[in-house]
Order: sequence, then C-alpha cells, then structure tokens
Amino acid sequence: MVAARITVNGEEKQISPAAPHTTVLEFLRDRGLTGTKEGCAEGECGACSVLVARPGVNKPTDWVAVNACLVPVAALDGQEIITSEGLATAGEPGKPPTLHPVQEEMALRGGSQCGYCTPGFVCSMAAEYYRPDRCAHADTAGGTDAEHGPNGFDLHALSGNLCRCTGYRPIRDAAFAVGTPTDEDPLAQRREQASPAPVATEYTRDDSVFLRKGTLAETLRLLRERPDAVVVAGSTDWGVEVNIRSRRADCVVAVDRLAELRELRVESDHIEIGAALTLTEIERRLDGAVPLLAELFPQFASRLIRNGATLGGNLGTGSPIGDSPPVLLALEASVLLADADGEREVPLAEYFTGYRQSVRRPGELIRAVRIPLPLSPVAAFHKISKRRFDDISSVAVAFALDIGDGIVRKARIGLGGVAATPIRALATEAALEGTPWTAETVEAAARILQGEGTPMNDHRASAAYRSAMLGQSLLKLYAQTTEAVSS
Ligand SMILES: Cc1cc2nc3c(=O)[nH]c(=O)nc-3n(C[C@H](O)[C@H](O)[C@H](O)COP(=O)(O)OP(=O)(O)OC[C@H]3O[C@@H](n4cnc5c(N)ncnc54)[C@H](O)[C@@H]3O)c2cc1C
Ligand code: FES
Ligand code: FES
Repeated sequence: MVAARITVNGEEKQISPAAPHTTVLEFLRDRGLTGTKEGCAEGECGACSVLVARPGVNKPTDWVAVNACLVPVAALDGQEIITSEGLATAGEPGKPPTLHPVQEEMALRGGSQCGYCTPGFVCSMAAEYYRPDRCAHADTAGGTDAEHGPNGFDLHALSGNLCRCTGYRPIRDAAFAVGTPTDEDPLAQRREQASPAPVATEYTRDDSVFLRKGTLAETLRLLRERPDAVVVAGSTDWGVEVNIRSRRADCVVAVDRLAELRELRVESDHIEIGAALTLTEIERRLDGAVPLLAELFPQFASRLIRNGATLGGNLGTGSPIGDSPPVLLALEASVLLADADGEREVPLAEYFTGYRQSVRRPGELIRAVRIPLPLSPVAAFHKISKRRFDDISSVAVAFALDIGDGIVRKARIGLGGVAATPIRALATEAALEGTPWTAETVEAAARILQGEGTPMNDHRASAAYRSAMLGQSLLKLYAQTTEAVSS
C-alpha cells in the first residue's frame, strides 16, 4: 500500500508521522501552516476552516469548506486541500503575493481586526465564491435579502464562523462585494477536473489504525472481523469526542467515500438517500423536493458542519436531540441496515431502543434512509434552541400532515428532546386524524401534544418549558397554515 499522502496548496505531503487520530488542523500547524487556527476544537467557531476538493454537484469538483479540527488527516489520504495560505497567488520573487479576491474584499472593507478568525472566514467565503450556481441566484428569486447578497452570496456559508472583535457588518459587506471568478483563476479552473478519487487507506501508528476500504462488501467483511472498530463518516461527532473527551480507538473505519452509501435515488414510490452523503449534498441534490428536509437543513448546525455531517452519522449517534430523527419519523422513513450477510429494512419508528441505543447490531452499517412517497403536503420543522442557527435543539418537532376538505386525513409528528429517544407523538396523531383542522380541535390536540414524552430538566431547558414548546409548536403550525390559506 502506498504511504498516506495529502496535497496541501498544490504540494504533496506525507501524513506520517501523524497519529491516526491527528486532526487536519494539528497536521497543518505541525507543518508550519499556522494560518489555520484553533479556536474551540469542536466545530463551533470556524477558525480552522479549510477547502477540500470534493465531487461537485454541478461541476466535476466543488471546493467544500470543512472544520479541519474535526477531521482526522488520515481521512484525507489521497485528497487535496487549500488553506488560507494557498488562496493568495505567489508574486514575483521578492514581491508579496496577490491577495485572493475574498481576502482583498475583507481587507478593503475592514473585515478583520485581531485577525484570529480571518483565515477561517476567508476559506468559508472562498467556498461560497466558487459555488458554481451562486451567480445564478444573483438578483433572482427574490433578489437581495438580509441573508443573500446581490452577488448571490448566501450568508449561511459563514454561519459556522465566529468573530469576536470586528463585528459582522464589515464581513457581510465583504461577502456581498465579491465578484465572479475569472477564467484564469486557478481554483476556478481546478473545478473543471475531477476531484481526487477515494483511496484505500491502512494507516497504522503504534497500536492504532485508520482504515478505508474501497467497497461496501470489503468494509462489511472488515467490520465483521473488527466489531470493536469505530465507524466514522464526516467525523463531526467523533471529532468532538476525540478532541474534547480524549476518546481514542484502536481501529477507526471510514465509510464516508463508499459509493454504495453515496447514492440518491428518486423512485416512483420512495426516495432513497445514501447514509454517507453530506447534508449539503442532499440539500443541493433534492433542491426542495422533500420540503420537510428543506426546512431542516438550514437549521442544522452550520454550513461548515453540514458539509461533513451525514444522515448515517446523525442516526448512528442515536442521540435523542439529533435533528434528523424527528423529521424522518414524521416522513415515516425506514433505515436500510447492511452487514456481511445482507441487508434489512427497519422502520425508523422501531430503530431506537433506548438512550443512544438502537437495533443496529455490531458490524452493521446504515447504508441508506428510505422515505416513502407521496409526501404529506403540510410540512413543518420547528427547532427550539437558544440561537436560531448553529445550536443544539432543546426541543424539535416535525409535522407531516395531510389535510383535505378541512379534515386531517393523516398526521405524523416526530419529536426530539423530550424522551430518551426520538419519538412519534402517537396520541396527538390519533387525536388529530379524522377531525376538522380548526382552532378548537388544534387547541385540544396541542394540550395532548404537551403531555407527550418524558421531558427532563437540563442545562438547555426545563421539562416544563419543553412541554410548553410542544403545545406551542402545533398552535404555530395552525397559525401558519391558516395564514397561508387566508393570504
Ligand atoms: C458544532 C456542531 C454543531 C452541531 N449541530 C447539530 C445540529 O444542529 N443538529 C444535529 O442533529 N446534530 C448536530 N451536530 C452533531 C453532528 O454534526 C451530527 O450528528 C452529524 O449528523 C454526524 O454525522 P457525521 O457523518 O459527522 O458522523 P460521525 O461523527 O462520523 O459519526 C457519528 C456516529 O455515527 C456512527 N456512524 C456514522 N456513519 C454511520 C453509518 N453509515 N452507519 C452506522 N453508523 C454510522 C459513527 O460510528 C459514530 O458513532 C453538531 C455537531 C457539531 C460539532
Ligand atoms: S477550531 Fe473552532 S471550529 Fe475548529
Ligand atoms: S477579527 Fe478578531 S475574532 Fe474576528
């Protein structure tokens, strides 16, 4: 097997002697590329943002910004990244480099004071600068609003970057001022060629190993031999465990590039979404085809996290406050579980068995999530958290309702944050179905919804607040649907 290597700013570097758990951030800084900063080491601040060449949605390659503090460098064996140092173009000998257009705008508009956050901001900004369909949105589809610039720049691209001293206005001004990449721009040209293919990796140091196999079958055989292995996809959960809780694994198996886990198929009676597609890829490929998922994505973490996070990882953690389970429960999704013996389909409503526990057996992988069609027309996802973006849910409620002739024909409601597992609000669903969609019935159902689950008091919210939010959420949905009808 060839020694593990990564291309950084066009230069190939050996990953050795980094440990298998060494993050991309640590690797870069150890090699003198100290532009990439560590603020939090848990995906919250974006100071560590770098660009990775990934298979594109509209072009052969997309430049995708990710949190270097969460990804093990061994996971990027054979891959190509650009750091803030690689954005500028080298000048004549003895002359300073030419700033990249996003760096230029940040400098011109006073987007940087202490500068600690700036390398991360410019990398996130550069990813949006190179987004192939960005300019298509310029001054269209409602044009400029608080979150979109006249140049099509989507401010959500910066939702995972924090700045403590400059203030966001000048940064937003810079983002909304960037133009279009020229034909000579080397990173724009790079998008026209394929991104590096995944390579099989066996990277061992001391007693631990990072493994990536080329196919699902090989991976499943490996997991049968090593049931102790930790599976990683985007590493947005596992990376936090490694950095903040000092977790280490003797064997880590990467599944994020497995082609069998990266398919998205729309069939006549269902949509199947590969477990290792990132949330950004799903969002862009579905392009609103599943409105409930379209409501979920902007409320899930930040763009930086969504560029790595997968549905397999969100269900794999079994967390009761994961945001996709309530949505997938309301959509009546099922989970396709694969092991070396074959595959089985489990309704998500039967998947979770206890706090962070599921029916998934050792050696089994989530291959895909299947959403039955047709979808119920009334869909809403209400995430109650302290901040609007980049925050963990205190309570999450997903609704999928079919209302015809003023009667609720079908109601599916998924809840997060009110029990040891994500749950369906079965009593509320039963109370709504077959009844008129009126203020009286909705108020009665909201009282039932308030009593669903067994919410707890914790640092995010009290049990009473969580219950109150459940009820409010149905009342809010009613207000939204009646506003839509009357407007
Ligand atoms: C700053 C920050 C903000 C966040 N905000 C949110 C949020 O708003 N909402 C939310 O729900 N979550 C949030 N998260 C948590 C995390 O991003 C999600 O849970 C994400 O979906 C995990 O996906 P991943 O691919 O990165 O998982 P990984 O970290 O790679 O893996 C997570 C777990 O899932 C298992 N796993 C991964 N893939 C599979 C598979 N195919 N089959 C079986 N098991 C698998 C792994 O073994 C591991 O135990 C946040 C995390 C951070 C760091
Ligand atoms: S160091 Fe804060 S997100 Fe990586
Ligand atoms: S410029 Fe100081 S943190 Fe942003």
